[in-house]
Amino acid sequence: MTEEEKISIVTGRGMWHAGNSRQIMLCDGPNGLRKQDDSAVSNNDSIIATCYPTAVTIAQNWDPDQVRRVADGLANECILEDVSVLLGPGVNIKRSPLGGRSFEYYSEDPFLSGITGTAFVAGLESRGVGTSLKHFAGNSQERFRMSSNSQIDERALHEIYLRAFEMIVKNARPSTVMASYNRLNGVYSCQNRELLTDILRNRWGFKGLVVSDWGACTDLPGSIRAGMDLEMPDSIGFHRPSLEKALREEKDGSMRRALDRAAARVEKLITDTFPDDKNRKIRTDIDTHQVAKQTAVGGSVLLKNNGSLPIKKGTVIYASGPLYRKLRVQGGGSSHINIRRDPDMPAALRKEYEVVEDPKEADVLLYFGGLTDEIEGEGYDRESLELPDTQKEDIRNLLSTGKPVIFIAFGGSPFIIPYRDEMASILYMGLPGEAADEAIMELLSGRVSPSGKLAETWPLRLEDTPCFGFFSTDSRDIEYRESIFVGYRFYDTFQVPVQFCFGYGLSYTSFSYDGLKVKDLSTVKLKIKNTGTVSGAEVVQIYVRNPEGDFLRERRSLRGFKKVFLEPGEEKEITISLDDRSFQVWSVEKGDFITCGGEYAIEAGASLQDIRVRASVHVEGENVSAGDRERYPSYYPGAKRRPVFSGADFQKLYGREFSDFSRRGKGEFDRTATIREMSRASLLARLVAGIVHREVVKMSSSGKDNDPEVRMMEEFILDGTIDAAAIQSDRMIGDDLVRALIEDANGHHLRAVKELLRGGRK
Ligand code: BGC
Repeated sequence: MTEEEKISIVTGRGMWHAGNSRQIMLCDGPNGLRKQDDSAVSNNDSIIATCYPTAVTIAQNWDPDQVRRVADGLANECILEDVSVLLGPGVNIKRSPLGGRSFEYYSEDPFLSGITGTAFVAGLESRGVGTSLKHFAGNSQERFRMSSNSQIDERALHEIYLRAFEMIVKNARPSTVMASYNRLNGVYSCQNRELLTDILRNRWGFKGLVVSDWGACTDLPGSIRAGMDLEMPDSIGFHRPSLEKALREEKDGSMRRALDRAAARVEKLITDTFPDDKNRKIRTDIDTHQVAKQTAVGGSVLLKNNGSLPIKKGTVIYASGPLYRKLRVQGGGSSHINIRRDPDMPAALRKEYEVVEDPKEADVLLYFGGLTDEIEGEGYDRESLELPDTQKEDIRNLLSTGKPVIFIAFGGSPFIIPYRDEMASILYMGLPGEAADEAIMELLSGRVSPSGKLAETWPLRLEDTPCFGFFSTDSRDIEYRESIFVGYRFYDTFQVPVQFCFGYGLSYTSFSYDGLKVKDLSTVKLKIKNTGTVSGAEVVQIYVRNPEGDFLRERRSLRGFKKVFLEPGEEKEITISLDDRSFQVWSVEKGDFITCGGEYAIEAGASLQDIRVRASVHVEGENVSAGDRERYPSYYPGAKRRPVFSGADFQKLYGREFSDFSRRGKGEFDRTATIREMSRASLLARLVAGIVHREVVKMSSSGKDNDPEVRMMEEFILDGTIDAAAIQSDRMIGDDLVRALIEDANGHHLRAVKELLRGGRK
């Protein structure tokens, strides 16, 4: 490649292609194929494709084999459409149930996320289709996602936030990893050498390519030096001069070497995933709709049942709720699939029961509700755990009839279920994809027993969530004060009561556990028996209970699991291998994981709070050093204090200076500033914000303010870096306007006018 070709190949071609003369296409993902033309105006303007359940429901399967089937279905569609790389899976840890993109992520637990993501990536890659493991890393919230700084201490980073990425990189070798929008510990991910080179390549041995999230690269030479290889999308000439300048002015050849490396990796990705690759063959034995259906069935969680489920033939049903006639089966934003078939719940119900319009005439009342697209989506976080008042009122009215009410709940993340105690049964579907209606009928009728388990804790109150007060606030400087106590690690360690615990889910049958044996601290054997009257599957979960001492550790963590299908009366002995990190912690002093010696318990159960059998084991290991113990002193057992660290405590375990990106003022704005940030100081920015809002509403398919597409676009343009906003607004915001905005916000109003005039003359 000539230098010119190298400069050009490290930047995308248009929105979705990469390469020079030989080009490949990269498309969203991950719960279906979102293939768009470059000329598409609306986010939802893509080819029709199978809409699989989103990550929340996929993870609730706790079944890597089923995830492989999804990956196989997706691979077929990518091969058919000449798509080289599918942009997924998303494996960020769910730090708070309020996260707007929770539906796109698997779990609050890194091990479950890692196993699920490994199956997904391995499945696609084995068929010659590339994947993009995203969003690397610390991208836990939507608010200020392009300008925030995630401040995470070293142990939480390695034990929680990086762990799933590490497992998948090592075990499934994704072709690409996508660097996230946010800053991590002060540095934008795309420019973060520690993340992209020291950890990803040197520590984990990643051999693939690092692609920027769409618009996340603002400093092309700096990012290439740090370890990013491909900026997406095409930066329409904005970034090229800076790379040329860096090459011209460098003295030691390091910029040229970094460019060579990046260009070679893009070339390799093209060769490995090019549509004519011999590996890429359609498998004719896959029915993608059936895969979507089975995944929805296996990932639905029965949260409560007083016996009203399954519903017997001949029962008279009344069904209502905001999500009854239009089931919510997927989320909004870059993962939105142009669905092949809209589920038809009324028709599906009528096929099996003769359905009435008046609740008074019915035996059972079904309510279809939960989180709507306006409440959660890409680009914006939720504000509360409550459902809208209208849904609460609906449910109260149904309950007042005195008839059994069954709640069919949808949503990408936990919420407070109103009148939980009074409801007869609750079935949580997550976001179940295109076959939602069929999947619901399998479960309501009892043809299949529910077997999904929660991959995230359902808290009782927002105030109970571990990052309460430190999530999606007005600040761009986010302190991850709860450290390693994410999700159940927090509720379990400090005995905080919850609505439903991690790993929870009921069945129409029952299971007994017996005969647990641990071999070589690496495998667990036990017997599971179906003691009920119908067939069903159980997710057996293995938790390791840590020794208590003067070093900070969570009480327990998930270290293995297996889904087992059993006929009534059938018993199986199963073997579950333990995660190789089961007895390890990250030592800041060593800069590596160490095995911690002591007395541990291996516990097997049907959920975190339903442990059935256990065994004690002794582990030989190292003593944690005095330095590590001083940095992470234990707060339990029996800790009465709220275990969120104070600013001073957190400073001690964070060990770095806190950032102050929230209070940029006059003189400090540059191309990484956002229009909203600059609006505080600039009339011009306020004017532009108004125009952007009007234009985005006009461009959307619905023309409405609260349309999720509008909210996502608006957040992107107003709270993305001005650089990315300019590139992706397709020159609506030109380079002269960018310069004028920055000058105006920095208090140089005359210079701003000059820039505007220059732009006008052009
Ligand atoms: C999202 C990514 C997505 C990309 C391309 C970004 O805004 O964060 O998940 O793959 O757009 O659509």
